[in-house]
Amino acid sequence: MSATPEHLYPTFDRMLPRVAKESMLGQSGAVIWMYGLSGSGKSTLANRLERVLHDEGHLIKVLDGDNVRTGLNKNLGFSDEDRLENIRRVSEVAKLFADCGVVVIASFITPNNELRRLAREVVGDADLLEVYVKASFETCAARDPKGLYAKVKAGEVKQFTGRDSGFEEPDHADLVIDTEAANEDACLATLHAAAIEKIRLPR
Ligand code: ADX
Repeated sequence: MSATPEHLYPTFDRMLPRVAKESMLGQSGAVIWMYGLSGSGKSTLANRLERVLHDEGHLIKVLDGDNVRTGLNKNLGFSDEDRLENIRRVSEVAKLFADCGVVVIASFITPNNELRRLAREVVGDADLLEVYVKASFETCAARDPKGLYAKVKAGEVKQFTGRDSGFEEPDHADLVIDTEAANEDACLATLHAAAIEKIRLPR
């Protein structure tokens, strides 16, 4: 049974303000939301960005399909309904981290604009950097870092994004990283520059 809001008593007035944590960490809490097809380069860039920012003294948490879907969201699959619930829960978790001053790098396919809007609504405009990691289905299938595209071809994976489940081109992105047009280091440099702007204190 879900809780009724009138029986909840958030004690915001007694809570330590967010800025106290941000100034301790020397960064603004933020959510860098990276979306795109499986194999587009999201995880590679997310992990490299985490390492660079960490080395520069920032506190980062990477959330991705692989860590969240084996724990918090292990009851969810890849139907439209489950993808919505996946993104809703991840957005709420990301918001909690950002409220604590942490910089979240969220790396999820987030296959349509409705889901991207949901993430923006939950996290809030000020904290979100929306990054489209762009590569065509054909390129992702040729890279096939997890061997998934081969399994899809063999009919072993259903509801696969870009095949029998849709992927919508974004109607909005703060940044587009085209991993076919630029090499990994150049993509990372562009992403890093945008991330640094977003997490700088004061914002
Ligand atoms: S999302 O659509 O709900 O945003 P999410 O990013 O969490 O997807 O999970 C995608 C990851 O799950 C892929 O990188 C891939 O490793 C794995 N996966 C397994 N089955 C599928 C599928 N049917 N479609 C897409 N990704 C899948």
